[in-house]
Formats: sequence, structure tokens, C-alpha cells
Amino acid sequence: MTDEKRHQIIITGGVPLNGECAISTSKNAVLPILAATLLTDQPVTIHNLPDISDVKNMLFMLRAFGADVQAERDFVTIAAKRIHTTSPAQNITGRLRASFLFMGPLLAREGSAIMPLPGGCRIGSRPIDLHLAGFKSLGARCITTSGQVHIWGKLRGSHIGLPFPSVGATENIMMAAVLADGITTITGAASEPEIADLAGFLNAMGARIAIDGDRITIFGVNKLCGADYTPIPDRIEAGTLMLAAAVSGGEVKLRNANAAHLSSVSQKLCEAGAEIFPFEDGLCVRGRRLQPMTIISSPFPGFPTDMQAPFMAACCAASGTSTISETVFENRFLHVSELCRMGADINVRGNFATVHGTGHLHGASVCATDLRAGAALCVAALLAHGDTLIRDIHHIDRGYDHFEEKLRHLGAKIRRV
Ligand code: EPZ
Repeated sequence: MTDEKRHQIIITGGVPLNGECAISTSKNAVLPILAATLLTDQPVTIHNLPDISDVKNMLFMLRAFGADVQAERDFVTIAAKRIHTTSPAQNITGRLRASFLFMGPLLAREGSAIMPLPGGCRIGSRPIDLHLAGFKSLGARCITTSGQVHIWGKLRGSHIGLPFPSVGATENIMMAAVLADGITTITGAASEPEIADLAGFLNAMGARIAIDGDRITIFGVNKLCGADYTPIPDRIEAGTLMLAAAVSGGEVKLRNANAAHLSSVSQKLCEAGAEIFPFEDGLCVRGRRLQPMTIISSPFPGFPTDMQAPFMAACCAASGTSTISETVFENRFLHVSELCRMGADINVRGNFATVHGTGHLHGASVCATDLRAGAALCVAALLAHGDTLIRDIHHIDRGYDHFEEKLRHLGAKIRRV
């Protein structure tokens, strides 16, 4: 079987999803936490890592930095006794954009790092100017030559005001500041749940971080110790499965979903006609024909940009006009052309899309262009009449843990070809 064949699935639409499934640990919590394990020479144990390729690539990179990584079935133990290099080869860091999250830990622990500029991706240019400005505020020197970022210096506490609540910049600056001399305050910080989870992990290692809304205070310490930590569940996986259940007209119970992380998604689904019942260990979603929606993505606690593409798929199947504004990334409508191949009627002007929902989509052969666009096509395929072939689903395997198995367990007619 040729390689691209392994990255294709066929979904037969029109089947309501029913039953129960458990939400995996959050990709976007785990990636910075794995980077942060370089901040200590003591062993760290992290439980319930999701089985996704982004995590596999982060573990590969940790080994390349010299960490000892022992992966067991339900946990991984990482010990970065010594760091062998602070200038990893491009073929190592090029595997994953999130490798830029190693900059803060390397700068804090080793006093220097040479990393390739992460570069853009399909959804935007993805600059790191706010990361580098934060490191400079902490006293680091920084030069960028031929696509490489060189940062070095002894860090001391500082005040950093972020003009935009960048998730990655907030995380990188936090990790750089935990070992700095003195106190660092970050204002205008991102307040996504993954930020608090990273702070929780760093504090478990002996850091002293306090979060008050968009203000983060970090009291520098001399050294961090080992820790045993379980990161939060994946609110974007949960939101995607909530949506799939709702649009299919079924009733699904999601164990281990954190309702507090999903309030903007739940509110949007209820406005569109779904019913959502939180319970002690998750939430239950009952769907029906969804109404048109008005969606504006924004930093937490606003509607998450990572849910914009899947929700656009749902809007295509609602009868009436929906509007979608993408305010976080500059090019996050790549899924539009693929949805149109399934019969969607979508008009895009800049970062604003108007969806003329006909209540009907038909199966087609489509291509996943990025992680969340792939999820959107799965949602659309569940709704569509007939079979949909989705190619390049390695994008989905990057960030959804056993997604097709979970959908099949809930009754979806889905198979990998
Ligand atoms: C994180 O990306 C997530 N990735 C993204 O999830 C998520 O969409 C995003 O936050 C927003 O919530 C991980 O956590 C690994 P940002 P990140 O820095 O940190 C601009 C997914 O599908 N910006 O908050 O890269 C940037 O261009 C992924 O799971 C600067 O201008 O997001 C963008 O327009 C996709 N300068 C906006 O801020 C900077 O230095 C948001 O970026 C940094 C960012």
C-alpha cells in the first residue's frame, strides 16, 4: 500500500452519533510542558500523554537535546540531566513548529540557544517577535541571521507588557523567567487554560508563579526539581466531538471534558439549538438540526480560533445565513474551498466569511490542509449525504488522539483506507 493511501479515510454521512467516550489530554497543554522538562536536571513524570504525532516529535527532540525519555503505556519519564546541545539541527526542530517553545527553557537553563526561525504555516506567518521581545526584556541578547535565532545572556526579572495575548509568547517568557534573578511580571498575557496548566506544572517543579487574569508574576528561583504531573484534558478535541454529536442529531456523553474550559463553545452550540448537560466528570450533548450562527474567534475566554473551521462545517448544514470572523490568524479559511466541493456556499472577504447554509451537503473527495481544517471536513462528512474521502489526514493524526476510533465507537461509519 502506497504511503499516501495510509492517510485517507472514508466517512458515510447521515448516521447520528450516540454513546460515550473519554477526552484525551490536551495537545496544547502537553507541548509547552514537555519543553519545560528541560528546565530541571531531575526526572519528571507526565501522565496520560495523548497518542499524537506532535507529542512523538517533541519526545524525539527531547532525546536530541540529551534528555533520557522512558515512555510507558500511561506515562512518560523525562530526565534532562545534561543538555548536549543548545543548537539543534534544522532536521530535528523542523519536525514541529512548537519546537520554538524550547527557546525559553534553553535560555533559562543554559544561557543560550540557537534555533531556526519556526517559519509560517498554512494558517499564517506565525511570527515570534513577541517571544524575542520578551527575552530581550529579561536581558537576553538576540540576533537573527540566515533563518537562525541566536539568543544568549544571564536573565534578570523584568516587566513585560504583551500588546497581544500570544499563547506561545506567554509560555516561552514564563519558562525563561522561572530561573531569572528577581521578579518578572507579564501583563496582557494569554489566559487560555493551557497557560494555567503550564504554570501548575512549573510550580510543581518548584517555580513560584502567580496568575491573576492577564497578569502573571514569576518570582525567580535558583533551581527546579522533578515533578509528577497530569495535564488538563483537550478542550478542542472535546469541542470538536461536542459539535460532531450535535450536528449528527445524536446524544453523546464526553467523560473527562472540563465544562469550564468550554463555556464559549457550549454557549454557541446552545444558541444554535443543541442541549448540553454538564455532569461531575464531563458533559453530555444532545443534538438536533442546528440553526445558523454568528461566530467571532478571539483569545480566551472568547470563542477559540481552533474551533472556527469545525463550526463553519456545521454552519454549512444549517438552513440560513451564518457569519464567521477569524480575528486571531490571518489565513485560517483554507477549509472553505474543500467544504465548497461538498456543496457548501461560502463567500470569503478577508477574514470574514458568509455561509449560506442550505441544510444539505453531499459527499466528495476532499483534502485536509491543516489540523483543524481536517477536523472540519470530518464534521462535514458526518453531515453529508453519501461517502466522503478525506486525504492527507496525517494533519488530523498530529493533534487528535485516535479520532477515527472515537467517532467509530460513537457509531460513525468511518474507515481508514
Ligand atoms: C497556540 O499557537 C496554539 N498552538 C494554536 O493551536 C492556537 O490556535 C493559538 O495558540 C491561539 O489560541 C499551541 O499551543 C501549540 P499565538 P500560538 O501566539 O502560540 C500572532 C492548533 O490547531 N503573534 O497566540 O502560535 C500570530 O501571528 C494550533 O492546535 C505575533 O504576531 O498562537 C497570531 O496571529 C493552531 N507575534 C496570533 O498572534 C508573536 O510573537 C496568535 O498567535 C506571536 C504571535
